[in-house]
Parts: sequence; structure tokens; C-alpha cells
Amino acid sequence: MTEWEGLYKGAIERAIKSVPKVKGVLLGYNTNIDAIKYLERKDLEERIEKAGRDEVLKYSEELPEKITSVPQLLGSILWSIRRGKAAELFVESCPVRFYMKRWGWNELRMGGQVGIMANLLGGVYGVPVIAHVPQLSRLQASLFLDGPIYVPKVENGKLKLVHPKEFQGDEESCIHFIYEFPRGFKVLEFEAPRENRFIGAADDYNTTVFIRDEFRENFDEIVKKVQLAIISGLQALTEETYKEPMEILRQHLEVLNDYNIPVHLEFAFTPDEKVRKEILSVLGKFYSVGLNEVELSSIMEVMGEKELAEKLLAHDPVDPIAVTQAMLKLAKETGVKRIHFHTYGYYLALTEYRGEHVRDALLFAALAAAAKAMKGNITSLEEIRDALSVPINEKARMVEEALAKEYSMNNGIAEVEGYQLAFIPTKIVEKPKSTVGIGDTISGSAFVGEFSFVL
Ligand code: AMP
Ligand code: GLC
Repeated sequence: MTEWEGLYKGAIERAIKSVPKVKGVLLGYNTNIDAIKYLERKDLEERIEKAGRDEVLKYSEELPEKITSVPQLLGSILWSIRRGKAAELFVESCPVRFYMKRWGWNELRMGGQVGIMANLLGGVYGVPVIAHVPQLSRLQASLFLDGPIYVPKVENGKLKLVHPKEFQGDEESCIHFIYEFPRGFKVLEFEAPRENRFIGAADDYNTTVFIRDEFRENFDEIVKKVQLAIISGLQALTEETYKEPMEILRQHLEVLNDYNIPVHLEFAFTPDEKVRKEILSVLGKFYSVGLNEVELSSIMEVMGEKELAEKLLAHDPVDPIAVTQAMLKLAKETGVKRIHFHTYGYYLALTEYRGEHVRDALLFAALAAAAKAMKGNITSLEEIRDALSVPINEKARMVEEALAKEYSMNNGIAEVEGYQLAFIPTKIVEKPKSTVGIGDTISGSAFVGEFSFVL
């Protein structure tokens, strides 16, 4: 059996030394404000009765496409609770936006993959980042940590990079209302099988991937200042909205590829099939992609791999052989060089290249995720060491055994059909403070960590 605790210790020490050496990361495109509400049973039940229980229950069976009424909002929250699954919908109606605002929140936090990674990489790890923020309201700006975090600003036709707090935009606030519930949360006759959240996005910018002029017109110049790029936020696009942003993305990828900048795509759950197919068609221009089991399964579906798609959702823990098969298909079909898969309990990385640094970056990411689950927010790289005390997920032993049997995996590394497969068991925090943003912490840390290990 692998000595995982020793490998974990080695990985965090390596990361503390290497990660701050990274000189610049570009982050596009989604940044917003997360207004987090921890749900309470009595309050929620009263609201459901008032809105009309039968109407609400209808939407807890099947999610609406977007939210245009209060029963739809409450029903969608119930949908998530009943299944212990995350979901996110656009809130179109102003009265519902107002209802959510009056309902209130317990905490305001940085949101969106870009915002979360900007604070983590720039504010905590000290790695300079250039972030795309579609709307910079005062509230949005105040959520950025101090540190080398920059947004482009154009003054007298010249590009300047300034901290978001210095941008002094008085623009709109894009607020995502996050309704969080713990495992075992009870409402009406339902009980949540797992902690999770439902997100109602009161946001007209990120939901259509609005890209600012400052970014579009100066992209070449911006790219010259970075070594890596991470793209996210394509998940909310629909058949009606995808054309223009996907075209800009293609142009951006071309520039990034010209400068040999490795680009990672953080693939969040994308309900629209057409958009998923579009993303698949540009995946080869990315160096790397990060996803979980639901996302990988949804990609297998549009690739016509129905059986594999179902297999990925059939077991707990997720069957690692099915995951490896799916990753191999994705890598071969698109040419993407690195696929990072994360699920509750373990991570895998399939890479075109070899080395223990791939596995060590996963270990670093798992510690960062556990630290984030424990504390809600991490405040320094060193603080991530505290997560060494969190126990390793027991169920992951079965996963490791299956991989050892199938692919002769040793110390978390195997050779599969000309690719390297790296595996790690993760540390799971029993009672996480909140779940939103953990996935971004994992993917950002692993991608930047891996790159820093070979600098
Ligand atoms: P996502 O599915 O993209 O939202 O990312 C969530 C990821 O966070 C999961 O795949 C897990 O690997 C990780 N995660 C969730 N809950 C915990 C927890 N309590 N402790 C540590 N990691 C967690
Ligand atoms: C999505 C949500 C955003 C949240 C983020 C966390 O981008 O829209 O509100 O902060 O996911 O990963």
C-alpha cells in the first residue's frame, strides 16, 4: 500500500516553495458576487406554504429552464435538497430577484471561477493574476483580496493594469444567491443525502459571457504578461447566446497558442447540449481540462457514449476504470494533453506526459480543498499544512486497489495506452463550512502547482 501521508507532506512543502515562482496567470471570464444563505427548515417551509406547496413540489420533480416565479425558485431549491445535488439557474424575473434580496443572506463572498481563483492565486498564493471582471461594482471590488490581482483599464487609449479596488468602476452588481444545506437537512418529507447548494443567478452579464472591450482590444498585450491561462464561465451559455462568445474564445485561444501559453478549461456543468458540443470542438486548443463525474458523463453523452455516461453516475465511489476509459476517449478524440478528474474521495489525471509532479500537484490541490472546506477561506499557502490532519478518505482504498489490479498502478502512477494515469485519495472534511468554490480551488491549485513544479 502506498504511504500517502508521507507523499502529502512532501507535496505541500514542494508547493510552498514553488508556487510563488509562477509569474502570471490570465483568468477569463466569469466573476460575480456570491450571497450565501444557509437554509433553515422552518423559514423554508413557511415560504413553501405561502407560495403554494403543490406548485413548488412540481418544480422539485423537474427543474425549470430558468426562474421566472417564486414557486420555481423554491421548487428548484427543493430539487437540490432532495437529491443532494448542485444546480444553478438564471433568474430572469425582477420580482424574484427582489424576493431573494429581501430573503437575505448570511455572508457575501467572492464568486465565479475567475473571482475565486483570482483571490486564491493572487491573494493567497502571491501569484500575479490578470482577471476578467464583467462588471466592477464597488461591492464586487471590495471582495478582492489585496495582492497582485489586476484588471485591465484603458486611460487615454493606453492599457494599464490596476487592482480592482483602484479601477473605480461604478458598474452593476452581478449577484448569485447561493442556498446551502448540510447533509441530513430536513424539509417537508425530504432529507438531503449530501451537503450541497442551489444557485439562483441574478446576473445578466456572466450568464451570457459578456466580454469587456478592455479585454478584447488589448488581448495580445495582456497575454504577453502571463505564463498560464485558465478559462471558465462557458456553462451558462445556451443555443441562443453561444455564438459570439465562442467566436471570441476561439480568437483568444489562437493568440494564447501562438505565445505557447498552456490554457486550462474549467468545465462546469453545461446543461445545453449544443454548447457542450461546441466546447468539445475547441477542446483540442486547450492544454488541460478539469471536470467532475457529472460533467464527464455529460460529455460522454454528446460523444455518443451513452453506456459509459451512465456507468460514470452509477456507483459511489465513482468507478475509476469507467472514468479512465472516458478520459482516454476524450483525450484521443480531442488531443487535449491533460485531463484532471475530481470526485468526492479521489482525483485522477490523465496526461500525455509523465512524471511524479503530476501526482504531487493533485496532492497539493486536495490539501487546499480540505483547507477550504475546513475554514471556508484559506488565508496563506502555509495554512494549507493544517489540512494534513484531515483523514484520508477510506473508500478511496477500494479505488486504489481496482486501479492497481487493472493498470498495475504503483504509488499512484500507471501507464495506460500511451498516457500516464495519476491517482490520489483525497482528504474529506466531515462537516465542511460550505461547499461552493471547492472545485475551483482544486483545479486552480493542481494546474498552477503542476506548472510550478517544473519551473
Ligand atoms: P464540484 O463538483 O466541481 O463542485 O467540486 C466539488 C469537489 O469538492 C468534489 O469533487 C470533491 O472532490 C470536493 N469536496 C466536496 N466536499 C468536500 C469535503 N467535505 N472535503 C473535501 N473535499 C470536498
Ligand atoms: C459558478 C457560480 C458562482 C460560484 C462558482 C463556484 O460559477 O455561478 O456563483 O461562485 O460557480 O464554483
